[in-house]
Amino acid sequence: MDNKHTLAVIIGSVREGRFGPVVASWVADQARAHGGFDVNVVDLAQMEIPLALPAASPKFAGENYPRPAGMAALTSALDGADAFVVVTPEYNHSYPASLKAAVDWHFNQWAAKPVAFVSYGGAAGGRHAVLHLENVFAELHAVTIRDGLAFPNYYTAWQDGRPLDPEAPGYAKALLDQLAWWAGALRSAREIAPYPA
Ligand SMILES: Cc1cc2nc3c(=O)[nH]c(=O)nc-3n(C[C@H](O)[C@H](O)[C@H](O)COP(=O)(O)O)c2cc1C
Repeated sequence: MDNKHTLAVIIGSVREGRFGPVVASWVADQARAHGGFDVNVVDLAQMEIPLALPAASPKFAGENYPRPAGMAALTSALDGADAFVVVTPEYNHSYPASLKAAVDWHFNQWAAKPVAFVSYGGAAGGRHAVLHLENVFAELHAVTIRDGLAFPNYYTAWQDGRPLDPEAPGYAKALLDQLAWWAGALRSAREIAPYPA
Protein backbone atom coordinates (compact mmCIF):
# COMPACT_ATOMS: atom_id res chain seq x y z
CA MET A 1 0.00 0.00 0.00
CA ASP A 2 1.18 3.52 -0.81
CA ASN A 3 1.68 5.27 2.51
CA LYS A 4 1.98 8.65 0.87
CA HIS A 5 -0.83 11.12 1.37
CA THR A 6 -2.59 12.53 -1.66
CA LEU A 7 -2.02 16.27 -1.56
CA ALA A 8 -3.96 18.82 -3.59
CA VAL A 9 -2.09 22.11 -3.99
CA ILE A 10 -4.82 24.57 -4.95
CA ILE A 11 -4.00 27.70 -6.97
CA GLY A 12 -6.56 30.15 -5.59
CA SER A 13 -6.20 33.02 -8.07
CA VAL A 14 -7.42 32.98 -11.66
CA ARG A 15 -6.48 36.55 -12.65
CA GLU A 16 -4.81 37.24 -15.97
CA GLY A 17 -1.07 37.57 -15.35
CA ARG A 18 -1.40 36.03 -11.88
CA PHE A 19 1.59 35.04 -9.75
CA GLY A 20 -0.20 32.11 -8.10
CA PRO A 21 1.17 29.35 -10.39
CA VAL A 22 4.75 30.37 -9.55
CA VAL A 23 4.12 29.96 -5.83
CA ALA A 24 2.12 26.74 -6.30
CA SER A 25 4.82 25.19 -8.48
CA TRP A 26 7.48 25.89 -5.83
CA VAL A 27 5.21 24.54 -3.07
CA ALA A 28 4.51 21.39 -5.11
CA ASP A 29 8.28 20.86 -5.55
CA GLN A 30 8.80 21.23 -1.79
CA ALA A 31 6.03 18.68 -1.16
CA ARG A 32 7.55 16.20 -3.65
CA ALA A 33 10.97 16.63 -2.03
CA HIS A 34 9.39 16.11 1.39
CA GLY A 35 8.55 12.56 0.38
CA GLY A 36 5.30 12.19 2.29
CA PHE A 37 2.93 13.15 -0.49
CA ASP A 38 1.65 12.32 -3.96
CA VAL A 39 1.19 15.84 -5.27
CA ASN A 40 -1.59 17.10 -7.52
CA VAL A 41 -1.67 20.78 -8.51
CA VAL A 42 -5.27 21.96 -8.87
CA ASP A 43 -5.58 25.13 -10.94
CA LEU A 44 -8.93 26.84 -10.46
CA ALA A 45 -8.40 28.73 -13.73
CA GLN A 46 -8.79 25.39 -15.55
CA MET A 47 -12.14 24.61 -13.91
CA GLU A 48 -15.70 25.74 -14.54
CA ILE A 49 -16.74 27.43 -11.29
CA PRO A 50 -19.92 29.51 -11.69
CA LEU A 51 -20.75 32.06 -9.00
CA ALA A 52 -24.44 31.05 -9.03
CA LEU A 53 -24.93 28.02 -6.79
CA PRO A 54 -27.83 25.53 -7.03
CA ALA A 55 -30.80 25.99 -4.71
CA ALA A 56 -29.80 23.20 -2.33
CA SER A 57 -26.76 23.23 -0.10
CA PRO A 58 -23.90 20.82 -0.90
CA LYS A 59 -23.94 19.96 2.79
CA PHE A 60 -27.25 18.13 2.44
CA ALA A 61 -27.26 17.15 -1.25
CA GLY A 62 -24.12 14.99 -0.95
CA GLU A 63 -23.36 12.92 -4.07
CA ASN A 64 -26.41 14.30 -5.87
CA TYR A 65 -25.27 17.93 -5.85
CA PRO A 66 -25.80 19.23 -9.42
CA ARG A 67 -22.34 20.46 -10.39
CA PRO A 68 -21.45 21.51 -13.95
CA ALA A 69 -19.54 18.99 -16.08
CA GLY A 70 -16.56 21.33 -16.21
CA MET A 71 -16.22 21.09 -12.42
CA ALA A 72 -15.84 17.30 -12.36
CA ALA A 73 -12.02 17.37 -12.32
CA LEU A 74 -12.04 19.77 -9.38
CA THR A 75 -14.57 17.73 -7.38
CA SER A 76 -12.67 14.52 -8.09
CA ALA A 77 -9.34 16.08 -7.02
CA LEU A 78 -10.90 17.34 -3.78
CA ASP A 79 -12.64 14.00 -3.15
CA GLY A 80 -9.39 12.09 -3.60
CA ALA A 81 -7.21 14.37 -1.49
CA ASP A 82 -6.07 13.50 2.03
CA ALA A 83 -4.67 17.00 2.52
CA PHE A 84 -4.71 20.44 0.96
CA VAL A 85 -2.33 23.33 0.55
CA VAL A 86 -4.26 26.44 -0.44
CA VAL A 87 -2.07 28.95 -2.26
CA THR A 88 -3.72 32.34 -1.94
CA PRO A 89 -2.99 35.97 -2.66
CA GLU A 90 -4.61 38.82 -0.77
CA TYR A 91 -7.36 40.80 -2.52
CA ASN A 92 -8.75 43.73 -0.50
CA HIS A 93 -7.70 42.16 2.81
CA SER A 94 -9.25 38.82 1.96
CA TYR A 95 -8.86 35.98 -0.54
CA PRO A 96 -10.04 35.82 -4.19
CA ALA A 97 -13.67 35.21 -5.12
CA SER A 98 -12.53 32.29 -7.32
CA LEU A 99 -11.36 30.46 -4.23
CA LYS A 100 -14.54 31.17 -2.28
CA ALA A 101 -16.64 29.86 -5.15
CA ALA A 102 -14.57 26.66 -5.39
CA VAL A 103 -14.91 26.15 -1.64
CA ASP A 104 -18.66 26.79 -1.56
CA TRP A 105 -19.48 24.31 -4.35
CA HIS A 106 -18.19 21.53 -2.03
CA PHE A 107 -18.70 20.38 1.53
CA ASN A 108 -17.89 16.73 2.37
CA GLN A 109 -14.74 17.02 0.25
CA TRP A 110 -13.18 19.24 2.95
CA ALA A 111 -14.49 17.54 6.09
CA ALA A 112 -12.06 15.84 8.50
CA LYS A 113 -9.08 16.73 6.30
CA PRO A 114 -6.16 19.08 7.00
CA VAL A 115 -5.65 22.37 5.15
CA ALA A 116 -2.42 24.40 5.14
CA PHE A 117 -1.99 27.87 3.69
CA VAL A 118 0.72 29.51 1.62
CA SER A 119 0.02 33.18 1.01
CA TYR A 120 1.58 36.12 -0.73
CA GLY A 121 0.81 39.79 -1.23
CA GLY A 122 2.00 43.22 -0.14
CA ALA A 123 3.28 44.10 3.32
CA ALA A 124 1.02 41.62 5.13
CA GLY A 125 2.03 38.68 2.92
CA GLY A 126 -1.56 37.56 2.48
CA ARG A 127 -2.13 36.96 6.20
CA HIS A 128 -5.50 38.77 6.10
CA ALA A 129 -6.61 36.29 3.44
CA VAL A 130 -5.46 33.36 5.57
CA LEU A 131 -7.28 34.61 8.68
CA HIS A 132 -10.52 34.65 6.68
CA LEU A 133 -9.83 31.21 5.21
CA GLU A 134 -9.23 29.72 8.66
CA ASN A 135 -12.76 30.78 9.64
CA VAL A 136 -14.24 29.36 6.46
CA PHE A 137 -12.54 25.98 6.78
CA ALA A 138 -13.61 25.64 10.43
CA GLU A 139 -17.21 25.80 9.18
CA LEU A 140 -16.40 22.96 6.76
CA HIS A 141 -15.06 20.68 9.54
CA ALA A 142 -11.54 20.88 8.13
CA VAL A 143 -8.45 21.10 10.34
CA THR A 144 -6.26 24.10 9.61
CA ILE A 145 -2.51 23.84 10.08
CA ARG A 146 -0.95 26.29 12.48
CA ASP A 147 2.32 26.90 10.62
CA GLY A 148 1.62 28.87 7.45
CA LEU A 149 4.02 30.26 4.93
CA ALA A 150 3.57 33.94 4.01
CA PHE A 151 5.49 35.91 1.41
CA PRO A 152 5.24 39.68 1.95
CA ASN A 153 6.16 41.95 -0.98
CA TYR A 154 6.55 38.85 -3.12
CA TYR A 155 7.48 40.95 -6.18
CA THR A 156 10.91 41.62 -4.66
CA ALA A 157 11.11 38.45 -2.56
CA TRP A 158 11.08 35.92 -5.45
CA GLN A 159 13.46 35.30 -8.31
CA ASP A 160 13.49 32.58 -10.99
CA GLY A 161 10.50 30.82 -9.48
CA ARG A 162 11.93 30.63 -5.96
CA PRO A 163 11.79 32.74 -2.81
CA LEU A 164 15.05 34.53 -2.08
CA ASP A 165 14.74 33.83 1.67
CA PRO A 166 17.07 30.87 2.33
CA GLU A 167 14.88 29.87 5.28
CA ALA A 168 11.81 29.34 3.08
CA PRO A 169 12.38 25.62 2.35
CA GLY A 170 12.75 25.03 6.10
CA TYR A 171 9.48 26.81 6.81
CA ALA A 172 7.84 24.77 4.06
CA LYS A 173 9.14 21.54 5.62
CA ALA A 174 7.67 22.49 9.03
CA LEU A 175 4.30 23.13 7.39
CA LEU A 176 4.47 19.89 5.40
CA ASP A 177 5.52 17.84 8.46
CA GLN A 178 2.46 19.09 10.34
CA LEU A 179 0.23 18.55 7.31
CA ALA A 180 1.50 14.97 6.87
CA TRP A 181 0.90 14.19 10.54
CA TRP A 182 -2.67 15.42 10.37
CA ALA A 183 -3.27 13.76 7.01
CA GLY A 184 -2.24 10.38 8.48
CA ALA A 185 -4.18 10.84 11.70
CA LEU A 186 -7.35 11.97 9.97
CA ARG A 187 -7.16 9.37 7.19
CA SER A 188 -6.92 6.60 9.84
CA ALA A 189 -9.82 8.12 11.73
CA ARG A 190 -11.97 8.39 8.59
CA GLU A 191 -11.21 4.74 7.81
CA ILE A 192 -12.32 3.63 11.28
CA ALA A 193 -15.56 5.60 11.22
CA PRO A 194 -17.14 8.10 8.84
CA TYR A 195 -16.91 11.64 10.15
CA PRO A 196 -20.33 12.71 11.49
CA ALA A 197 -20.68 15.94 9.49
C1 LIG B 1 -8.33 43.30 -6.60
C2 LIG B 1 -6.99 43.26 -5.89
C3 LIG B 1 -6.93 43.63 -4.58
C4 LIG B 1 -5.70 43.58 -3.90
N1 LIG B 1 -5.68 43.85 -2.56
C5 LIG B 1 -4.53 43.63 -1.87
C6 LIG B 1 -4.53 43.73 -0.46
O1 LIG B 1 -5.52 44.05 0.19
N2 LIG B 1 -3.38 43.46 0.20
C7 LIG B 1 -2.25 43.08 -0.47
O2 LIG B 1 -1.23 42.82 0.18
N3 LIG B 1 -2.22 42.97 -1.81
C8 LIG B 1 -3.34 43.23 -2.52
N4 LIG B 1 -3.34 43.09 -3.88
C9 LIG B 1 -2.09 42.76 -4.56
C10 LIG B 1 -2.00 41.26 -4.77
O3 LIG B 1 -1.60 40.61 -3.60
C11 LIG B 1 -1.05 40.97 -5.92
O4 LIG B 1 -1.53 41.62 -7.08
C12 LIG B 1 -0.91 39.49 -6.21
O5 LIG B 1 -0.07 39.31 -7.32
C13 LIG B 1 -2.24 38.87 -6.54
O6 LIG B 1 -2.08 37.49 -6.74
P1 LIG B 1 -2.24 36.86 -8.21
O7 LIG B 1 -1.14 37.52 -9.04
O8 LIG B 1 -2.01 35.40 -8.04
O9 LIG B 1 -3.60 37.23 -8.70
C14 LIG B 1 -4.53 43.16 -4.59
C15 LIG B 1 -4.64 42.81 -5.94
C16 LIG B 1 -5.84 42.85 -6.58
C17 LIG B 1 -5.93 42.42 -8.01
